[in-house]
Amino acid sequence: MANPLVRNRYEQIKDMDRVERNVIDFFCAGSGGPEAYHGKDMVATHRGMNVSEQEFFAVIDDAMAALETCGVEPPVRNEVLAVLWSMKAEVVRN
Ligand code: HEM
Repeated sequence: MANPLVRNRYEQIKDMDRVERNVIDFFCAGSGGPEAYHGKDMVATHRGMNVSEQEFFAVIDDAMAALETCGVEPPVRNEVLAVLWSMKAEVVRN
């Protein structure tokens, strides 16, 4: 929400509590659990949004900055970066 490149996307979310819960669970489940993810898959979630490469990079930058703020070490940040990058085709312009 603080990033002007993507703020408008998140301002349109109707149920922020649900999306926030799902995004947290997605990251937790993807990094080993025990939380389980109950949201939609990445293609279904972002379909029709026409997300651009610039927006995709902006969100990844924000995720990396958040990990750094939380003291996550570079090797782990790089691992997360690679996983997020691998989802590009599912999120961008699908
Ligand atoms: C690898 C990058 C990304 C990941 C892993 C990701 C992950 C997620 C997840 C887990 C959700 C919740 C889905 C649900 O509640 O069922 C979500 C929702 C959402 N994402 Fe992403 N996202 C990514 C990139 C982006 C980008 C680049 C944008 C646009 C700037 C974006 C916009 C949104 C919006 C607007 C929603 C809410 C959809 C709704 O209201 O149901 N996402 N994303």
